Amino acid sequence: MTETIIGHRTTRVDGELKLTGKADYTSDHNLPNQAYGYPVPSTIACGKLLELDIDEARQAPGVIEIVHRGNFPQLQPSDNNPACGTAARLYRSPSTMAEQNKVGEVRLPFEDDGIHYEGQYIALVVADTFEHARAAARLVKARYEVHEAVPGLFSTDDEGEEAGDEAVSRGDPAGAYETAPVKLDQTYTIAMETHMAMEMHASIATWEDDRLTIYESTQGVVFQRNALAQIFGIPPEKVTVIAHYIGSGFGSKLFMWPHAVMTAVASRMVGRPVKTVLSRQQNFCNAGNRPASRQHVRMAADRDGKLLSIRHDSQNETSFIDSYTESIGSGTPRAYACDNVSVSQRRVQVNHGTPTSMRAPGEVSGSVALEIAMDELAIELGMDPLELRRKNFAERDPTADLPWSGNHLRECWDDASRRFGWEKRNPEIGSMRDGHEIIGWGMADATWEAMRSHCKARVELRADGKVQVACGTQDIGTGTYTIVAQTAAELTGVPLSRIEVKLGDSMLPAGPLSGGSMATATVLPAVAGATRDVIEQLKQIAIADGAPFAGKEADSLEFKNGELSDGSRSVSFVDILNAVPRGMVEGEASAAPGDEQDKFSFRSFGAHFVEIRWDPGISRLRVSRVVSTIDIGRAINPLTAKNQVEGAIVMGMGMGMFEETEYDPAGNIYNNNYADYVVPVHADIPDIEVELLDNPDYNFNEFGARGVGEIGITGMAAAISNAVYHATGKRIRDMPIKIADLID
Ligand code: MOS
Repeated sequence: MTETIIGHRTTRVDGELKLTGKADYTSDHNLPNQAYGYPVPSTIACGKLLELDIDEARQAPGVIEIVHRGNFPQLQPSDNNPACGTAARLYRSPSTMAEQNKVGEVRLPFEDDGIHYEGQYIALVVADTFEHARAAARLVKARYEVHEAVPGLFSTDDEGEEAGDEAVSRGDPAGAYETAPVKLDQTYTIAMETHMAMEMHASIATWEDDRLTIYESTQGVVFQRNALAQIFGIPPEKVTVIAHYIGSGFGSKLFMWPHAVMTAVASRMVGRPVKTVLSRQQNFCNAGNRPASRQHVRMAADRDGKLLSIRHDSQNETSFIDSYTESIGSGTPRAYACDNVSVSQRRVQVNHGTPTSMRAPGEVSGSVALEIAMDELAIELGMDPLELRRKNFAERDPTADLPWSGNHLRECWDDASRRFGWEKRNPEIGSMRDGHEIIGWGMADATWEAMRSHCKARVELRADGKVQVACGTQDIGTGTYTIVAQTAAELTGVPLSRIEVKLGDSMLPAGPLSGGSMATATVLPAVAGATRDVIEQLKQIAIADGAPFAGKEADSLEFKNGELSDGSRSVSFVDILNAVPRGMVEGEASAAPGDEQDKFSFRSFGAHFVEIRWDPGISRLRVSRVVSTIDIGRAINPLTAKNQVEGAIVMGMGMGMFEETEYDPAGNIYNNNYADYVVPVHADIPDIEVELLDNPDYNFNEFGARGVGEIGITGMAAAISNAVYHATGKRIRDMPIKIADLID
């Protein structure tokens, strides 16, 4: 009997490698004769680079070369950069993943003398050791013309530019609002956040004639291969991007940043491999961020709580060199049944590095405003906030007039509220106490679009008994190695220990970005297709003259538990390959979404219930309990899937209570390190009780999986803010919530 592996808690197949330090992350690689790059950052945020004095640095010990505007080659900028925040549009674009080449910052390094944000690279020092490169980088002198910086969204009156393609409108939201009996009109803000991946961005580049190989901590080896090919004007086959293990990315590693281009140029200039590992400080400037945002929500309901109108108008920061759009209101038109809805988005240029996707980009920001607004409206109506949501459940996708493929939000509400004990909530502000502490209970919905894209995969059955699966996607720490191995194990009946998974190499069959929570739904169908193909190939080999099933029909054979059988006799694939003899047989497949998108709306839903404790005596705020129920279709591996939701909940706590990239008036970041940029640590993290419902979504793919990486962060900050209101009566609309906001 083939063991069912899919859907079971499976420990990570790469767990031992990680625990023993053998998993090779980018900066673990060292190539023979390698030199080291160290970037020189601009110390101003806005202005012009008038003069670069590299003489002293050039003479410093170990310095091999200094790459700068004066000696930088002419390159070709990447041309496929949709100004799309969530990247959802990119994922849905008709071209395959194999052809995408979006980059994080379109401007090529040193392209002109403009300085657009603090930390923008003005040079790269290349030396024989990291320490020499860093020491010499400090000797590079720059003279600037300093212009007044726009240090952030909240310090400018600029209304920004309308992102027209984000606008949504249905019904008559303004008219419905005017005549409605119950109204809300509030503004919400979220501070800029920076992805705090444990592993720094890093590139190690090496050239062999006109062939470039680059080790990169990336969420998209294929995207980066294509981008480098275009920028350097070489065919994609001549670029290899390798990322075997990634110490998370959260979006900051989806699209290539300038350090990779600089490093590849440096390597070509010095004729040696060059390794550049960004410092944490540089990670803050040049590798994306979640832009600060301001959201204006106007909402109206009738006296029974039926929503009559929602207007959600947002602004996000972008840089002066890009037009990054955060699709903040994109979830709003689908969140609740409401006939009159409008959404708009503007982007405001500030002197920050270009923003990029950060876990649940857009929708998570939108969920802060929308889900706090729902709580405010419930208070206004004198209704339980969960009841208000129930009243406005959308039976179909209101934007597309399509049925949901699977919307189990009501079961999420039921399950999570029951486990949390929501019915024991006393709605009166500050009424629930435990000793010194005031307890607050709040809730919010979670939601994320289910996306699927194109993928190729290859599977080999080998005479040594191994099954090797290969795909040019990557595992950013989420467990992709494990679920790919589970899939091959289930479909071949070969035990997990004999499945080898190759990912993180652009020479492998092109796979997707690890982003948008779409890798699972995208990759597994291709792996399954390739597995079926290799079984078919094996049958053909097995029925050839002299082979174990010579003369039989391929269709009469069945493959199970690693063996072919004709009903009376079973022969293992190893014996078949040895009999022929052959070292291996391989199968390949492509998989892509079909027309199901025209028939169903694919989204995932969930609910968070949060308890906070406010101790007014010592002004201490703590999240003390989180109970969440999420429906993601089928979890391929409930162990790693739950882990994703828990991690996202922790990140949502960061958004709600801690995280903020802070700029001084000159546009310089002053908390650009792990000590001052506060993220939740173990002491901040309470019991997190996550349940995943199991409602396989077979409309989406044969495994019924919709993806799980991002949904957990949506709604979390709002649920915390709602709980804080319940405890303290203070309605905090600006994230992160600060203790100062709670002190009278
Ligand atoms: Mo995710 S922000 O798509 O890495």
